[in-house]
Amino acid sequence: MKIAKALLAHYDAHARRLPWRMPPGSNEAADPYRVWLSEVMLQQTTVAAVAPYFARFTDRWPTVADLAAAADEDVMAAWAGLGYYARARNLLACARAVARDHGGSFPDTEEGLRALPGVGAYTAAAVAAIAFRRRAVVVDANVERVVARLFAIAAPLPAARPEIRDATDSITPDARAGDFAQAMMDLGATICTPRNPACGICPLRENCAACATADPAAFPVKAAKKARPHRLGHAWWIERADGHVWLVRRPDKGMLGGMRALPSSEWSAPAPPAAPPLPARWSALADPVVHVFTHFSLDLMVHVARVEGDCLPPGEGEWWPLKGLEQAGLPTLFRRAADAAMKETIQDA
Ligand code: ADE
Repeated sequence: MKIAKALLAHYDAHARRLPWRMPPGSNEAADPYRVWLSEVMLQQTTVAAVAPYFARFTDRWPTVADLAAAADEDVMAAWAGLGYYARARNLLACARAVARDHGGSFPDTEEGLRALPGVGAYTAAAVAAIAFRRRAVVVDANVERVVARLFAIAAPLPAARPEIRDATDSITPDARAGDFAQAMMDLGATICTPRNPACGICPLRENCAACATADPAAFPVKAAKKARPHRLGHAWWIERADGHVWLVRRPDKGMLGGMRALPSSEWSAPAPPAAPPLPARWSALADPVVHVFTHFSLDLMVHVARVEGDCLPPGEGEWWPLKGLEQAGLPTLFRRAADAAMKETIQDA
């Protein structure tokens, strides 16, 4: 337990102050709702990116019951910009399950948490440890890196994951497992960083097998990356003369599911046909909006047209005032497409 002891002593002195976190040594328990919300938001995202979203969500929906009662589109719009939108849909499903099936209180075991919609092994372990002070083995990307270095694990990711989990289990203390997990995350975010780790100031340097090598940053070993496929698509900016634009809601299943968006084609390679949703004098912007998703990159061609006041594009959608476009909660891809289209129409005028 030398590692846990050294790390917790460091955490007691240097823990980051975060809005969902109880300071180390606090007798007060953390609010499970805030812990759960922060953990869902923090997946694939940094503390700096999450902080303003966390503040807005907890101001507007201070309890899980408040969030459970929110309208889907309000939550999706409030999530806009955080990415990985399936997480927002799961967030709502989970809040509603807690409100409906658990009387508004989160289950207090890893197993009970795991049974909630959208709660995976990582989130269940993190909430059980941090909010309920249970012993749980918490492995996120930061912990993965720290542990791969501590033990100089030679197997490449992702094959090394079971070995990393077992190694994390072997150093997780029975008491303060939540603080230990957060201390590992802080270490990964501030000292044991992906490039140029600051081994000279690391509280675990004497226990670290990678630190004893010439190149600690070589861990975790990564398997060669596959090239990211590239897709193309079209989006249509339909602007009404009185300053409104036609927005649709994407189907719940699939990329950016449930989010407001511009009408668009499938995204595919080779390029799908540019079949506009209605006849108009279309002009295509010179440059596509280039966007990189986790599993593919996308060139989105944006086509713009002005239409008359009595126009009603086919399918479900709504005319949204251009002046209040920020409130539509467009995901980043479509916000960038909208910015490009608005520059074009202004130049046209
Ligand atoms: N990343 C994910 N969860 C975190 C937490 N609880 N504290 C700091 N960074 C985190």
